Amino acid sequence: MSQIGPEIVLGVGGGIAAYKSCELLRRLQDRGYQITVVPTPSSLNFVGKATWEALSGRPVNTQVWEDVHLVPHISVAEKAKFFIIAPATADLIARLAAGRADDLLTNLVLASDVPKMLIPAMHPSMWLDAATVANVQVLRTRGFEVMEPVVGRLTGSDIGPGRFPETASIVYEFDQLTGNISDLTGKRILITAGGTRENIDPVRFIGNRSSGKQGVAIAKAAIRRGADVHLIAANVDENQVMGIETTHVVTTQEMHEALLERFPEIDILIMSAAVADAKPKWTSIDKIKKAMLGSIELVPNMDLLADISKGKTNQIIVGFAAETKDHLIEARRKLESKGMDVIYVNDVSGGAIFGKDQTMGTILTRNDADIAVKETSKDALGNLLLDQAIRQIG
Ligand code: CTP
Repeated sequence: MSQIGPEIVLGVGGGIAAYKSCELLRRLQDRGYQITVVPTPSSLNFVGKATWEALSGRPVNTQVWEDVHLVPHISVAEKAKFFIIAPATADLIARLAAGRADDLLTNLVLASDVPKMLIPAMHPSMWLDAATVANVQVLRTRGFEVMEPVVGRLTGSDIGPGRFPETASIVYEFDQLTGNISDLTGKRILITAGGTRENIDPVRFIGNRSSGKQGVAIAKAAIRRGADVHLIAANVDENQVMGIETTHVVTTQEMHEALLERFPEIDILIMSAAVADAKPKWTSIDKIKKAMLGSIELVPNMDLLADISKGKTNQIIVGFAAETKDHLIEARRKLESKGMDVIYVNDVSGGAIFGKDQTMGTILTRNDADIAVKETSKDALGNLLLDQAIRQIG
């Protein structure tokens, strides 16, 4: 099971279909979603708190006055990237439409402005009642995604629209909303992240300011889209790469070896690591005394991309450029000279980008028009680059 999908809230209303949400929770977990379950108090008549806690592995509250010191209605709302409320009963839909905040779930809905999906389930006459129709209309105009219930057999003998849809179709619709799409299933993607370091002596090194955030964001986006991902991480914190299959390296030489080993087997290489351009001619075994540090003789490092791309068969290569001036000219030169198919160039003048969650730049390819990327998250850029790589594969 993937461990790195987006944080979501699974709200559960007080209808008999609540029991089907246990299966829904499991299938959403399979898709990598990190889930906090927030049942309404009345839904506990159908499925108890203990079941939700056991299945989600997290504490479960229904009211704002439980765990008050954690301010749950704000802390959970701040963390969640999406909401799915299943089943959404007629009463819950009415309370949401009225903007009420009389339990934890309705508080959370008000406190959060992320995309939300409702999966209504109720008796057909309740679903078709003018009050419910009007409430659903209100919620849709406010941006809620409301899935149509299925026509079929209800809990009793009645037949009509109101049935809770099949779990797979709910998961499919929710994936569309969250962008959790499996278009990279079967693709093997190798990603480098971080910055290589070259040792001067046992305590000093030549390095750079790359945090590894971009490469890790791409790796996570690729995993979410179903790819088989391997990360080569140069001096990236262990916690950052949790859940990603990773080879840790320190030096450019080590990164080169790791690349050579895996490149022949992959479909896409994304070279987001900042490689140290030079290394000391000698690495001292002992700590160099400061009096001797007036100059350090450097020799250039190998250009990893230029070297690896010589062995290219069908692989698509995506690279980066960090420039302080002439961004597009420099990016195109690097794209061509290093055998890349796609390059993302960003402006690093003034130390912008490094360690930040946002990025801004341009994507260039060999034949297509340049794509300007306005200030966007490194996660979103990861998805854009994966889209381009897939496009190049055709
Ligand atoms: N790169 C590489 N090996 C190197 C240096 C860079 O594979 N020794 C890769 C980077 O991972 C990146 C791309 O090449 O994907 C461009 O990196 P950048 O530092 O902008 O390129 P340099 O060739 O070092 O450019 P410059 O001449 O501007 O220093």
